[in-house]
Amino acid sequence: MSRPLAVVCLAAGLGKRTKLSIPKVLLPLCGRTLVACSLDATDALKPQRTIVVVHHQKEKVEKELSARKSLVCVDQGKPMGTGHAVKVAMAALGDFDGDVLVTYGDCPLTTSETLATLRTLRENAPCSVLTAFADDPTGLGRILRDDQDRFIGIREHRDCTEAELANEEINAGIYCFDSKALRPALEKLQPKNAQGEFYLTDVIAQFVAEGKEPATMTLGDDREALGVNTLTDLALARSVMQERILVEHLNNGVLIVDPGTTFIDHGVEIGADTRILPCTVIGSGCKIGTHCEVGPFAHLRVGTVLEDGAEIGNFVEAKKSRIGAGSKAKHLTYLGDTVIGKQANIGAGTITANYDGTHKHETKIGDQCFVGSGTVIVAPSELGARSMTGAGAIVKRGSKIEADEVWVGVPARKLKRRDAKPAGSTREETR
Ligand code: UD1
Ligand code: CA
Repeated sequence: MSRPLAVVCLAAGLGKRTKLSIPKVLLPLCGRTLVACSLDATDALKPQRTIVVVHHQKEKVEKELSARKSLVCVDQGKPMGTGHAVKVAMAALGDFDGDVLVTYGDCPLTTSETLATLRTLRENAPCSVLTAFADDPTGLGRILRDDQDRFIGIREHRDCTEAELANEEINAGIYCFDSKALRPALEKLQPKNAQGEFYLTDVIAQFVAEGKEPATMTLGDDREALGVNTLTDLALARSVMQERILVEHLNNGVLIVDPGTTFIDHGVEIGADTRILPCTVIGSGCKIGTHCEVGPFAHLRVGTVLEDGAEIGNFVEAKKSRIGAGSKAKHLTYLGDTVIGKQANIGAGTITANYDGTHKHETKIGDQCFVGSGTVIVAPSELGARSMTGAGAIVKRGSKIEADEVWVGVPARKLKRRDAKPAGSTREETR
């Protein structure tokens, strides 16, 4: 589309109804914050400008968004309504001329496809309005239509008559405006309503009064319009987002045995032919190759990479660890800051003790290592290729097990070489 695009994301509200101390827009949803979900959807439209309107706990919101270099946060001051918020954003946009897409930082499920269509609909109208038929329209603005079904306005729940409340078509609160029509209309807003606020919806009423009919787009799936006000809303939004993520992996050939008990964050790569078994949790930023197996009851945390054919089994947690091709850790194991080579076997109950109370340290386990059951490796330590530990070995901090060596005991000491040659041909020594 040739018209320039500016995004205005409203995120100044207090979010009292969550009863939490963190700002609502920073609540987590499958590995992203609510506001990040909203901004990722608009970023896909490649806007020239993005303004996020902030106020309550703005330092925290600004900090969360600081990595997004292309956006600007603007402080609304005392929030005086959605119309006031957009007015503040328009001032920050200066003489920008083009489409202005207004979204909310607490509305994480609207897809970029929907937003792109909404924008296209704006073509011959002063604005386009996203609507939905909500199962429960309580608290939401209602779309008013005349007897020919033409859009005539939006009325807030608390300003509606009984008859208007019976109407289930709601205002999602997401719009695309022509900047030229928006600016003068914002100037004319008055806080004449039950809340004494400047309503953005009154801008649309002005267009109607001037005979300029807004376009509307009705969502097929009203869940896309879900605004998170309470933790119950958050739980619902999470389940919708989770379903989307799982469906995408399933469509890519990832065999997820039980989607109902599988939790995979946004931003996880999984290769085809990999099997994810029930009750598995995979955090953002994990990369899993093809022909891997994960679970049941596995927890892969940030920064974990499974190369092709690696297997992580029951009650295994891995954090910031790389598991080489064909390597296996199948039972009751913790791998933290650990790099494992290819074809290694990590026995049941192995623990890499990566934290000394102050710092995290790395463990290196070479190709074809065989780590005996119940081994504790205190990091930093290194196990050379093809080396072995005996069951229950405690590998002390700073150990360096050379290739092919076998270490056993508490603390672990070198026993022999794995490929034990005839006596005398190698130096076999136990420390
Ligand atoms: C708004 C719409 C309503 C719609 C609903 C959808 C108006 C007047 N009403 O109602 O028709 O059905 O959204 O969710 O627009 N915000 C600011 N600054 C402000 C006020 C709000 O940044 O001064 C932000 C809030 O943080 C929030 C969003 O704008 O993210 C919506 O504000 P909210 O007060 O929740 O609007 P509603 O009254 O729910
Ligand atoms: Ca709201």
